[in-house]
Amino acid sequence: MNMEYKVMTESDYDGVYELWTNTPGMGINNTDDSREGIKKYIKRNPTTSFVALFEGQIVGAILAGHDGRRGFIQHIAVLSEFRKHGVASTLVNKAMNALEEEGIHKVALLTFKKNALGNSFWDKMGFTVREDVYYRNKNIHELEYRANPYRNE
Ligand SMILES: CC(C)(COP(=O)(O)OP(=O)(O)OC[C@H]1O[C@@H](n2cnc3c(N)ncnc32)[C@H](O)[C@@H]1OP(=O)(O)O)[C@@H](O)C(=O)NCCC(=O)NCCS
Repeated sequence: MNMEYKVMTESDYDGVYELWTNTPGMGINNTDDSREGIKKYIKRNPTTSFVALFEGQIVGAILAGHDGRRGFIQHIAVLSEFRKHGVASTLVNKAMNALEEEGIHKVALLTFKKNALGNSFWDKMGFTVREDVYYRNKNIHELEYRANPYRNE
């Protein structure tokens, strides 16, 4: 498959958002994943998120960045008809290399426990589950999430 990969920029937003909304199980909310939210994220992390294009269409994307200490992968998705060709693994490797270039040594991510496909992908990619920590979170203000079959409401 003749896939092209490039760093994600603000102008990729429409294609990336369409990919996310066509991918069940993505934890998408109305502020961080809005055009403004992604613009802000890319401004802060301009080199570490990537898109995969097939004949000019965005068919895969990874949103990744860091806080100066830890890398974080926020979203990864590949359109179902393009899966199992190594697109997601290539995106992960590109993001990890770009993070390393930024002086980052470790990368974390969150998955819904019910996302079996996602979790088996991350197992294969060597991302281990930390059993010794709790993930704690507090929203600063209310967020609206898209319906998600994996989320415990
Ligand atoms: C998880 C996801 C991103 C994986 O995307 P992908 O492009 O299919 O991933 P890859 O092709 O790199 O690897 C997936 C599988 O294809 C296999 N593969 C990789 N290259 C291959 C190739 N050239 N030919 C055949 N199979 C290949 C991998 O070994 C892996 O095997 P597995 O299914 O037995 O685990 C995709 O399924 C997806 O978008 N899921 C929905 C969103 C989601 O859950 N994201 C994760 C949130 S935590």
